Amino acid sequence: MSAPEEADAKKTGFSISLSNTSKFYPGVVALDDVSLQVEAGEIVGLVGENGAGKSTLMKVLGGSTAPDRGTITINGQDYDFLTPPLATELGIAFVHQELNLFENLDVAANIYIGREPHRYGFLRLVDNEKLYREAQSLLDRLGATFSPTTPVEKLSLAQRQMVEIAKVLSVDARLVIFDEPTSSLPVAETEKLLEIIAGLKAHGIAVIFISHRLHEIVTACDRVLVLRDGRMVGELEGEKINHDTMVKLMVGRDLKVAYSPPAMERGQAALSARGIRTGTYPHREIDLDLHSGEILGLAGLVGAGRTELARVLFGIDGALGGSIHLDGEEIRFASSADAVKAGVFLVPEDRKGAGLLLDMTIAENISLPNLVAYSRNRLVSRENERVQAERSRAELDIRAPSVTVRTGALSGGNQQKVVLAKWLAMEPNVIIFDEPTRGIDIGAKTEIYRLMRNLADNGVAVLVISSDMEEVIGVSDRVAVMHEGHITGILDRDRSSEENILTLAVGKSI
Ligand SMILES: Nc1ncnc2c1ncn2[C@@H]1O[C@H](COP(=O)(O)OP(=O)(O)OP(=O)(O)O)[C@@H](O)[C@H]1O
Ligand SMILES: [Mg+2]
Repeated sequence: MSAPEEADAKKTGFSISLSNTSKFYPGVVALDDVSLQVEAGEIVGLVGENGAGKSTLMKVLGGSTAPDRGTITINGQDYDFLTPPLATELGIAFVHQELNLFENLDVAANIYIGREPHRYGFLRLVDNEKLYREAQSLLDRLGATFSPTTPVEKLSLAQRQMVEIAKVLSVDARLVIFDEPTSSLPVAETEKLLEIIAGLKAHGIAVIFISHRLHEIVTACDRVLVLRDGRMVGELEGEKINHDTMVKLMVGRDLKVAYSPPAMERGQAALSARGIRTGTYPHREIDLDLHSGEILGLAGLVGAGRTELARVLFGIDGALGGSIHLDGEEIRFASSADAVKAGVFLVPEDRKGAGLLLDMTIAENISLPNLVAYSRNRLVSRENERVQAERSRAELDIRAPSVTVRTGALSGGNQQKVVLAKWLAMEPNVIIFDEPTRGIDIGAKTEIYRLMRNLADNGVAVLVISSDMEEVIGVSDRVAVMHEGHITGILDRDRSSEENILTLAVGKSI
């Protein structure tokens, strides 16, 4: 056999299995006697509620977590545990739920970090020309529009994700694990990613795909494994891979996402923006009225300027022009601290940057922005803090052994719930949610929609930025659609269809 043929045979012959794997953390059985097998050329979906054990299971395969029990078998060879270098050597590549990029390095450097191509010669200098050329070809393959010389800190979440995927494509992987790769991607990029995944399969690569967006699982996967509370509770194939069957196995009962209708008429305009201009589109102006008692959706394609608008409204960035009125009075927030004082809050999209302190407990994180309310004689009352945290834990179904565990020990979705809890505990006048249910499982989503409606019914003005079409239509009383830095239309409930939103989002009128 010639060398390339041999390599191909190896690729198609790849198989990996886990038998009777368990992993214990203090107070938590993260994995309970789990077995699975994955073969070359198949796409296996992995679903389960927040905290079900999906990421832990994948970390066992990626070598970053050692199981307490069980055996890992790769191409007939048994291992008690793997290490990250060994996993890489065996062809296992990982696109993480939390993006792991170096913000101050450029795209190409991030893709090839530690594996830079070198020029021949005594000094073994990095072959920059080759580095950027190969990075560019990977980005082309992914249909990315940014350059390999862009610093990662300049990229949006969706673009950062692309860099992670380029990194995976650059190693010769036999199994690629995607842990919620689409949770920060909008529709078009998601479709693109699913195409890329199908391409991996066509090359005989095995794929494990984790997502809370179940329709993606239905579209992409040949087989689906369902975890609940650390146990493997089902395996589905063919026709059986459908939304209702998966949900039933995940939560152990039937469940429908529910959107509650508004209980009251919308009130006065609480926040009015006039002629707002932001950095990316300095010549466009935004006019927007957000009323108390309403949930206003803000839809649009990535880069339309929604997050930028949110940052201006929250005082993080200054506007280039225009004015903002709060309850009829003109305001100028010099910082987000001013906004918070005025009762205007932003729940940002990036939970890593959301001020979640991973080394602090759940209770400490929730009380953080609101220390005054918990303090008596300037001392934080641990008791008040705990009571509020317990309330939040129940309301949002935060899965943790107690509110005094480190936030860093929580699953991704449960960390997101703590971010929400932190802001919801503060009694806002105006609250802006930027992609609030990213990475949140279907049961908890329903809870979050209910809490948003509760806020509105209590007179709060709620603005929801969401790329999830079903969500933005379901949850909003009106949907404002942005395109290239301005609002192209505002749709009332009876006109907020997917078609109308997409038309406005590409800058056409309806
Ligand atoms: N390092 C750790 N220390 C303590 N507990 C942990 C640690 N890592 C995970 N856990 C716990 O193990 C359980 C499973 O977490 P895991 O991250 O695997 O969930 P998940 O299914 O990926 O959830 P999500 O959908 O929210 O990402 C959770 O209860 C979590 O709190
Ligand atoms: Mg996870």
